[in-house]
Amino acid sequence: MSAIRFDQVSLQFPGAARPAVDQCSCEIDTGRLVVILGPSGCGKTTLLKMVNRLYEPTSGGIYLNGQEIRQMQVTKLRQQIGYVIQQSGLFPHMTVAQNVAVVPKLLGWSRPRIQERIDELLHLVQLPPLEYRNRYPAQMSGGQQQRVGLARALAGDPAVMLMDEPFGAIDAITRTSLQDEMLRLQRQLQKTILFVSHDVEEALRLGDRLLIMEKGRIVQYDTPFNVLTQPANEFVYQLMGADDMVRQLGLLRVETAMKRLPESSLNGEPTVEQQDSLRSALSLILKTGAKKLTVLDQGLPVGILTLEHIRDSAGIVS
Ligand SMILES: Nc1ncnc2c1ncn2[C@@H]1O[C@H](COP(=O)(O)OP(=O)(O)O)[C@@H](O)[C@H]1O
Ligand SMILES: [Mg+2]
Repeated sequence: MSAIRFDQVSLQFPGAARPAVDQCSCEIDTGRLVVILGPSGCGKTTLLKMVNRLYEPTSGGIYLNGQEIRQMQVTKLRQQIGYVIQQSGLFPHMTVAQNVAVVPKLLGWSRPRIQERIDELLHLVQLPPLEYRNRYPAQMSGGQQQRVGLARALAGDPAVMLMDEPFGAIDAITRTSLQDEMLRLQRQLQKTILFVSHDVEEALRLGDRLLIMEKGRIVQYDTPFNVLTQPANEFVYQLMGADDMVRQLGLLRVETAMKRLPESSLNGEPTVEQQDSLRSALSLILKTGAKKLTVLDQGLPVGILTLEHIRDSAGIVS
């Protein structure tokens, strides 16, 4: 059973000429990080806000673990869903610890349990509690505030996270480190995440699946690899910058193109990690003249990568 299912969901705001979200259907598997990608105004935020019922669809249904969300109490629903937005949404008059404690307090946890949870979460997002517990949002950088926003959203251990351009207002370098952080956290926590972005590179870095929207509609829902190599239409092709092969290779991870071999071993071939980019794998092949590379997952061989694999993935005709 999918964690979230959209069934023919539409929302037309009063007085609008066309629906902001138009007949959207898709299923999000448990533990996936799905990036909703598309230009400004295409309906990403509207789609997201229907999941925690900040907006109600005009027609269609949304299901959380098989249950129609309209059948659930709004407070119960929202307890199962963490929500992170662009400007962190932290309460400015509360300390970091008080902000993170909001949901655990609502859930009626004991004081010691809340204190313990605050420290655990601040460690998790790499803000040492001793230093940050008692700060106010205004005493931190934008990137640090977003980390607290993330910690607060995780506090009640929700199964689902909704993230609406959480790093959109952060400078490029900090954004990259927050994205790395997200990937690390996701490997550890395995939440079901709907992550809104209008940034193609961010989407490719983070997403297990990309859900591409255009004018309220889902135009493609697939792996980053397939979206890049088999864009559904001209709009997706242009959006992904699919005509720039070198850039594509820089964005795709080795694991998207490699051949997995259960009985892999180290045999003197040059090695790459499966998280490396295809671009660095290609330059290793060209530099060493090797016919294939051994692909490692945290040091252990898990498969191979050849020039043909890279060629197929970039759609290069030679
Ligand atoms: N509360 C609202 N009332 C009326 N129209 C809205 C509202 N929120 C969004 N819209 C309109 O719905 C469309 C989709 O908006 P939105 O979901 O915010 O797009 P995105 O997040 O992709 O930038 C836009 O045309 C926007 O103007
Ligand atoms: Mg938006």
